[in-house]
Amino acid sequence: MIYLGIETSCDETACALVEDGRNLLSAKLVSQIDVHQQFGGVVPEVAARRHLEAINPLIDAVFDEAGLTMADIDAVACTVGPGLIGTLLVGLSAAKCLAWSYDKPLISVDHILAHVCANYVGTDLEPPFVALVVSGGHTQIMHFKNYQDYEILGQTLDDASGEAYDKVARLLGLGYPGGPAVDRQAAMGNPSAFALPEASIPGYDFSFSGLKTAVSRLVDNLSGDMSIPDICASFQNAVNRALHRKTMAAVSNLGLQKIVLAGGVAANRDLRDRFEREVGVKLYRPTLDLCTDNAIMVASAAHFTGQAVPLSVGAYSRQH
Ligand code: KG4
Ligand code: ZN
Repeated sequence: MIYLGIETSCDETACALVEDGRNLLSAKLVSQIDVHQQFGGVVPEVAARRHLEAINPLIDAVFDEAGLTMADIDAVACTVGPGLIGTLLVGLSAAKCLAWSYDKPLISVDHILAHVCANYVGTDLEPPFVALVVSGGHTQIMHFKNYQDYEILGQTLDDASGEAYDKVARLLGLGYPGGPAVDRQAAMGNPSAFALPEASIPGYDFSFSGLKTAVSRLVDNLSGDMSIPDICASFQNAVNRALHRKTMAAVSNLGLQKIVLAGGVAANRDLRDRFEREVGVKLYRPTLDLCTDNAIMVASAAHFTGQAVPLSVGAYSRQH
């Protein structure tokens, strides 16, 4: 089964062709980072217009690269949420047009599940496993009992981990997107320089808003005389310690042996290192370009978790 995947949930326009959920045939992506950098974050209306300009040439390009045509594919898959409604609708409209014109099934894909499915591409991963999904909008520990049967064990009660990275980066004047900038600075800093509090939330849930406030207070107290690498390393240490500890607890309590990392924050070097050091568990984490938003994961998710839907399907901004 060959799927065309389309992703426009935030600030990356992406298309890909993937066979049977694991075999990448071709992929193209246009990032809008340079567009939104000047605003310090994603401006939804600007993002939607950029998607509109990028989407058709990208679709042509993935078919050219793979040497295939619409006649060769089995279904059109598209992210329908969660994400920015205005941007989601650009991809979804394109997907609907193609599905209708070429009489192909339309498969709706959930963005969070798609992040997890990035780990199926080019690997032998099979459930059951515990997934840590860490992105700009979500932070969840999930138990995948099977490809489609999963349970959310815990999640953030306030900010997502990526959001915390972005907010701290803004506070320190490191620009957008903040995660990669904090990651780079932290590599030069001392993670024990400042003792930042970890919220004591029971179970598998998280809270990061207190940490962000603690960093803000620290920056005020240091008033200019501060080491940005040390602050970044200390902040990153606090976030990643919680993510790592709770995920390991879930794997151990469920008696499982596989851990899957997913989402933009899974690109973080320190977070990857923490899990890579674990023995006795098999770790799956996407390559860096598959951690952040892309369409390869959407085409893969269509195979493993997607549902054929009527052309009247809508988009949703929040998880359900
Ligand atoms: O999955 P993603 O591309 O989009 C969403 O679905 O939100 O994740 C984007 C998030 C942003 O908050 C970005 O700052 C963060 O992932 N991120 C990182 C790194 N690379 C991206 N956070 C920490 N370290 C990184 N290396
Ligand atoms: Zn994402």
